Amino acid sequence: MDDASGPAGSATALAEIADTVRSCTRCPLSAGRSHAVPGEGNDMSDVLLVGEGPGAREDRTGRPFVGPAGELLSELLAAIGWTRADVFITNVVKCRPPANRDPEPEEKAACAPYLDAQERALQPAVVVTLGRHSLQRYLPGARIGGAHGQLRRSFTGQHVFPMYHPAAALHQASLRETLFRDIRGLPAALLDARRALAEERPASVQAQEAVDREQSPDPAADEAEQMTLFQEH
Ligand code: URA
Ligand code: SF4
Repeated sequence: MDDASGPAGSATALAEIADTVRSCTRCPLSAGRSHAVPGEGNDMSDVLLVGEGPGAREDRTGRPFVGPAGELLSELLAAIGWTRADVFITNVVKCRPPANRDPEPEEKAACAPYLDAQERALQPAVVVTLGRHSLQRYLPGARIGGAHGQLRRSFTGQHVFPMYHPAAALHQASLRETLFRDIRGLPAALLDARRALAEERPASVQAQEAVDREQSPDPAADEAEQMTLFQEH
């Protein structure tokens, strides 16, 4: 289960990014926020969920997906035996757009370096995009209607699993079923992505990983810890 773990040091890197985000004034959204919402979850996960931007309750608490859309997201994860603690959750923009309007292109561009940095820290096997702003970042021009529920690759090689935004299902009941159907395909998509990435890893890196495993002070403990991470999936 080596491939279930994020790179060493990701927790520190993610904490530093979160600190920077909390005091960020790179775009006008900083003016209207109560709290920036950097993101949270499992620092060692290789699954990154990316929503659009904080809503009212997220702005109040500084935590992602804690409002009504977040409740549905938790239900979706539960449908495949996962919890929020199995994944890392963040947004395209980290501060709430006024009255939940769409984030502007300039705001998304200003905030992109934080998501870039979070991806470098986590090195996710799969990015689950929630809604169209997140989808656009990874697959520009893709349409959610055709792309949802299928593992795709971005032009940077990132594996992407597009989903509708949970908030959309709160307004349009038929999407609820689609969301549940799609997320049931996520565990298999994750395994496919991990397998593809393992095969693509250069032989030199694979050899170094074998050496690192040999030199690990307590490999049994490492393995036991990693087994618990994703054993139910
Ligand atoms: N909607 C989002 O896109 N993100 C959140 O964090 C909450 C609601
Ligand atoms: Fe900074 Fe992003 Fe918040 Fe804009 S939305 S102020 S770029 S953290």
